[in-house]
Amino acid sequence: MRVLGIETSCDETAAAVVERDSDGHGRILSNVVLSQIADHAPYGGVVPEIAARAHVEVLDRLISQALHEAHMTLEEVDAVAATAGPGLIGGLIVGLMTGKAIAMAAHKPFYAINHLEGHALTPRLTDQIDFPYLLLLVSGGHTQMVLVKGLGNYERLGTTIDDALGEAFDKTAKLLGLPYPGGPEVEKAALSGDASRFTLPRPLKGEERLDFSFSGLKTAVRQLATTLEPLSQTDVNDICAAFQTAVADTLDDRVARSLARFRSTFPDVKEPALVVAGGVAANKVLRAGLQRLCAVNGFRFIAPPMALCTDNAAMIAWAGAERANETTADSLDIAPRSRWPLDMQSAPLIGAGRRGAKA
Ligand code: KG4
Ligand code: ZN
Repeated sequence: MRVLGIETSCDETAAAVVERDSDGHGRILSNVVLSQIADHAPYGGVVPEIAARAHVEVLDRLISQALHEAHMTLEEVDAVAATAGPGLIGGLIVGLMTGKAIAMAAHKPFYAINHLEGHALTPRLTDQIDFPYLLLLVSGGHTQMVLVKGLGNYERLGTTIDDALGEAFDKTAKLLGLPYPGGPEVEKAALSGDASRFTLPRPLKGEERLDFSFSGLKTAVRQLATTLEPLSQTDVNDICAAFQTAVADTLDDRVARSLARFRSTFPDVKEPALVVAGGVAANKVLRAGLQRLCAVNGFRFIAPPMALCTDNAAMIAWAGAERANETTADSLDIAPRSRWPLDMQSAPLIGAGRRGAKA
């Protein structure tokens, strides 16, 4: 089964071809991603209209390139998959309509993919892991702990009640005068900072619920920065170090509870696993903390290669291939959805996924 995947839900335009064997093994035949970061950087965040236009301009070329790099023609593809949500509606319309048009013209089955499901199933492509497992998705638009029980069977254990973690990094960076995207900048500045100079809050730490909260932390950074104004480079470095330490500490507490919940729900799973995905998973300090936590609790720690942790179309093609193995194709009537929770039973929390529910 070879699937052409298309991803346009936020600021990456992506196309890929992925192959899945009948035994469930997969390989990426091509994976083309064009980031729009430079287009959005002057505005300090993703501008939906700019994103949608940029997708239109490059998507056809990227799809041709993905087919070319996979040494395939459209006729040789078995199915087409495109992200139908959640995300920015303009971009979703571009990718979904393109995918449907190609599927219709080439007489191929079409799969409308939930972007979050793409992230959730990636470790089955990279590490052949079996259900069930835990997924921690930490990106600019989402912070979720998901129990991946089976294909199409997801339970959201926790989510952010305000800002996504990547968003908290981006806003903190902006407050401190660092460029967008802020995550890598904060990590870099923190390297030269003294984390013990300031103590920032650890939101929800110690609470029973498995949710996350980051806006209080960002507010504390704002207050601190205002008090210290004008900020020296040392101040910026120290605040970044304190911020990152507070985040690491909070994640440690929140994630530990989810690991314990997994253990009690699935006592028979011999090798439980925690998978991380999303741009924030690039952070070395946070990654090391999660790795340590997994080691202490007897969990396997799986972080797909960075290019597959952040937004890409290989994960969309792979989700299409997994679905094609188990379900019938989607109707071409399907509409894009800016909000589309993975776990339909979970109640939306106020403020969660503010930025168009983008992951
Ligand atoms: O998954 P991703 O590439 O897509 C979006 O959500 O757009 O995640 C991007 C997010 C941004 O908020 C960025 O600041 C954050 O991931 N990020 C990081 C690091 N690298 C990227 N956050 C913390 N530390 C990093 N090294
Ligand atoms: Zn994503």
